[in-house]
Amino acid sequence: MNVCMIGTGYVGLVTGICLAHIGHNVTCVDIDTHKIEMLKKGELPIFEPGLEDLLKVNVSDKRLHFTNDIKQAVQNSQVIFIAVGTPPAKDGNANLTNVFEAAHDIAAALNEYKVIVNKSTVPVGTAEKVSEIIQKNKKSETDFSVVSNPEFLKEGSAIKDIFEGDRIVIGVEDQNAQAIMEQLYKPLSIPVYVTDVKSAEMIKYASNAFLATKISFINEIANVCEKVGADITKVAGGMGLDKRIGASFLNAGLGYGGSCFPKDAKALVETAKQAGYHFKILNAVIEVNDKQKQIMVDKISKYVSKLNNPVVGILGLAFKPNTDDIREAPSLYIIQKLKEQGIKLKAYDPIAMENTKIIIPDITYCSNLYDACRDVDVVVITTEWEEFKNMDLDIVKDSVKTPLIIDGRNIFDPIQMNQKGFKYISIGR
Ligand SMILES: NC(=O)c1ccc[n+]([C@@H]2O[C@H](COP(=O)([O-])OP(=O)(O)OC[C@H]3O[C@@H](n4cnc5c(N)ncnc54)[C@H](O)[C@@H]3O)[C@@H](O)[C@H]2O)c1
Repeated sequence: MNVCMIGTGYVGLVTGICLAHIGHNVTCVDIDTHKIEMLKKGELPIFEPGLEDLLKVNVSDKRLHFTNDIKQAVQNSQVIFIAVGTPPAKDGNANLTNVFEAAHDIAAALNEYKVIVNKSTVPVGTAEKVSEIIQKNKKSETDFSVVSNPEFLKEGSAIKDIFEGDRIVIGVEDQNAQAIMEQLYKPLSIPVYVTDVKSAEMIKYASNAFLATKISFINEIANVCEKVGADITKVAGGMGLDKRIGASFLNAGLGYGGSCFPKDAKALVETAKQAGYHFKILNAVIEVNDKQKQIMVDKISKYVSKLNNPVVGILGLAFKPNTDDIREAPSLYIIQKLKEQGIKLKAYDPIAMENTKIIIPDITYCSNLYDACRDVDVVVITTEWEEFKNMDLDIVKDSVKTPLIIDGRNIFDPIQMNQKGFKYISIGR
């Protein structure tokens, strides 16, 4: 099947490459000419494990193409995906400018029946608006269908998530478009959940809001654990064995970050508000998440406020391991707050330092984790990279000024850390 992917970011690029890998002929388009130039040279504009190999294989097999010519890409394709960014607007709503621009471009190019697939995370009712834009602006009499197909991949394991996802959600209003979508995804052998368009749009927000709720809930339990002397990792272990609860998303820490949960939770609150409903739980989830980052800042400040010219080493900048994405990363909040207190900072991340340097140029970036620990008063762990879990604690202990680790991701065992001679402070233990 000929497929056009509009937007080659974390979602569009990975989805486009994976669709090519299952046999489709995919053309990826982006308004960012630099990205397209990089991709044409076989270079990836993002970090995602395993993606570079898949890119090379599918380009050399001539199933994957990159262009800035959206008109031609749309006209040559039967299925057009919209996978552009939907960043948060100031009021918390999703900013749909990119989606509507893509809809205008599709309308201008429409030459025969196409299925237009909204893969971006968009509020309920957006497919209807996309449909209206295309209907109003199309230059030919041809028919089209707009489908909702939200994406559930996770950065860092995106390829696996696409090839082995739990479900594919398709919101569709006509049987022709449904048949084309089922045909498109058939090689993946993943359960397809077909529903109406509005429900599909809501499934994405409801799923992210539920996961965000799980994270804020376990963080609240962690905060209570600290006060009463229980250990959150043991509590979560016992809770997770209950199949009704499940073990995933029960890691207490610095709260959720990234480009999805924070913006999607806020957008759902706004959607509810506009519909005249106060979404009480989700408001609390957001509040708890904001507070969780400040709790970490307070833990660090408590120690460094007594020191002259303190230096803090930050291990981890990405919002989670195996990605270079720093959007809404808790590390950024913590760094900002410590900078405001005049604290000198050193930082290291295996992948995300280049992205961070653009927005925080004035801290010291280190070439490895041990450099980031050298002569610091506190080591702060903000991302649970495998590299940090496997660090040589003897070298760290010899490098630091004071053997104090404040761990926002609970990657070590407190008893073992104490035995190693560290003062070790973590979350909910
Ligand atoms: N990143 C994730 O983990 C994830 C997971 C599930 C869903 N989503 C959703 O998928 C969507 C895309 O997210 P992302 O992380 O890939 O964003 P991104 O910012 O990485 O990529 C978006 C891309 O779209 C391009 N673009 C913007 N307007 C365009 C236009 N009019 N025409 C062509 N290209 C255009 C941008 O240049 C950019 O390359 C969002 O709605 C997001 O909420 C993201």
